[in-house]
Amino acid sequence: MTEERPAYLSLKNRTVRRRTPQAFDRNGTATEPADGDCSDHEWPACWDAAASLLEWSEPYDRIVDEENAPFYRWFVGGRLNAAENCIDRHLEERKNQVALRWEGKRGERRTYTYYDLYREVSAVAAALRDLGVDEDDVVTIYLPKLPELPITMLACARIGALHNVVFSGFAPNALAERMQRVDSRALVTCDGSFREETVIDQKRKADTALASIEESRPTVVVDRLGSSHDMHLGENQYDYDDLVEAFAGANVSPVPREATDPLFHIHTSGTTGEPRRMTHSTGGYLTGVAWTAQTVFDLVPGTTIWCTADAGWITGHSYVVYGPLLSGATVVLAEGSLRYPDRHRPWEVIERNGVEVFYTTPGVIRTFMKWGESFPSSHDLSSLRLLGSVGEPIGPDTWEWYYTHVGEERCPIVDTWWQTETGCVLISVRPGIDELKPGSVGSPLPGIEIQIVDEDGRELPPGEPGYLTIDRPWPSMLVPLEGDRYWVLAEYWQAFSDPRADSWQYFTGDRAVVDDDGYVTIIGRNDDVITIGNRRIGTAELEAAITTVDGVTEAAAVAERTIGETALCVFATLEQGQQDRTAIQDAVADAVAEHVGEFARPANVVFTPELPETYSGKTMYKLLERIVNDRLPTDSDTLRNPEVVGELTTIWNQE
Ligand code: WTA
Repeated sequence: MTEERPAYLSLKNRTVRRRTPQAFDRNGTATEPADGDCSDHEWPACWDAAASLLEWSEPYDRIVDEENAPFYRWFVGGRLNAAENCIDRHLEERKNQVALRWEGKRGERRTYTYYDLYREVSAVAAALRDLGVDEDDVVTIYLPKLPELPITMLACARIGALHNVVFSGFAPNALAERMQRVDSRALVTCDGSFREETVIDQKRKADTALASIEESRPTVVVDRLGSSHDMHLGENQYDYDDLVEAFAGANVSPVPREATDPLFHIHTSGTTGEPRRMTHSTGGYLTGVAWTAQTVFDLVPGTTIWCTADAGWITGHSYVVYGPLLSGATVVLAEGSLRYPDRHRPWEVIERNGVEVFYTTPGVIRTFMKWGESFPSSHDLSSLRLLGSVGEPIGPDTWEWYYTHVGEERCPIVDTWWQTETGCVLISVRPGIDELKPGSVGSPLPGIEIQIVDEDGRELPPGEPGYLTIDRPWPSMLVPLEGDRYWVLAEYWQAFSDPRADSWQYFTGDRAVVDDDGYVTIIGRNDDVITIGNRRIGTAELEAAITTVDGVTEAAAVAERTIGETALCVFATLEQGQQDRTAIQDAVADAVAEHVGEFARPANVVFTPELPETYSGKTMYKLLERIVNDRLPTDSDTLRNPEVVGELTTIWNQE
């Protein structure tokens, strides 16, 4: 470590619009200064301040009800509607401002103003009602990145129905299972979509899923493929455009929901065990999301944000749809892959749309690194002013590359830690306020209290790695349905709480370490730990060592279990043009021995063109483990790059 302070530390205020979060008054006008600023108040009053960012149709009489802990109830007695907060409240001030810009895979572009959203959301809301969807019913949405996806989510919210977005890449079985688990009353899907040059028959997948569900469910089909494809609507199936036309101009009053009423279901990402049904509340979830949209992403009315996440993941819910629209921002939605028609696409999307805030995953950034800096550098990225990262630890090298070649050494990076369960970002630097430290996610946001604890729940001092736990409830926390309480207690609350003392500590499932400034570094999931020679090592730790080797861009470490012992196996990707594979294999083994310990020296180092990754950008360790230990390819439903599985299996079996 050198003493010299890197330039980015002094840059913290330059590209940030607002240093303190602002509040909106009832008309959606920003008021100065911020009484929506959590940092000025103690817990839980800080969340009272944050809740003033929303428009309430009925004020709440309690900030948080802790009686039935850990099933906390936020903003008890209050009423509000999510769609009204995202759309109607903006109409007076910015009805003709662009709310959503969509870019199709084939270069098509569509633009929706806030007023356009209002009209289409109302029409879809009226149509859903006409199809028998009532308040509290669940509607499953199985759509790729089309404008109809956020529109349908908001249409559900408008009539007090819950949406259940299922990632469009899932197979029919996965869809059917996720519909049944929430007793979905209706389905919204599309005829198909394009994957690079091929057409995916989305409707056939939906029909297969529907056929396995006993009761018929009304199904709305968005026409994505146009005249090139005949939709063949079956019984109880409706064309989205016909419905929008039939209900055009419908006036559907937003249904005031109890703050504690559920807003949506979502399933957690399938990297760790079986997918689970999560539920988020209306008032608490929206409060957390609105506040972090401002504090972490610096969204003000008119800011253009592009978050590359799919809406099927929580990141898409919170920072493609709700956070930006609550803030009166402009959302960019780009259909299809970032490499199609070529590797210029991401930079063209930023350039064409004047994107100011760009939010993606370390996996995507590593792909950009592999392609090389000539792609971003041949575009005008001067509109960017803030960059974000989420989903897995971003190593210092990746951080520096992002900062230099995308942010042009101008833009702060917010490395945001959160989970499907937490609803909104809980740990991050606040741009314009906090210093940036590559590799660390920053301090818990105001209103969030964390502890790093050992196996027995004892708090550990700075510098000592342990389990990341959250000490106090926060508004956008998971609110399990009655039937989910048992497993939620077991999975998140049992490990470190003391129910007899009514003391509750949420376990995140992550390992982390805090430094003397209170900055948190995430080591990785607790279940991404490999035991070798009786020592537990985080895969992230191993990978950090491996990627110190020149020429290696990405790595995944998994355990290879042979009789009586566990050996370490490394999958790595190389920079283009790297020829000397044997030398790199040796260097990787040496780097692990040096940084982690001789005991961990990998038995195998295998090179692959890509690592298998989920759509939320996480390396699929379980799949690698199965390839290593069973030499079998396996189900790749949840992969962003399923084609890599066959390649990997072949490569591994040749070793
Ligand atoms: C990991 C995604 C390091 C972590 C929003 C967490 C991160 C899990 C970060 C949740 C980050 C998320 N740095 N690790 N900035 N953000 N994680 O539910 O292990 O898909 O528990 O939510 O991703 O993943 P999920």
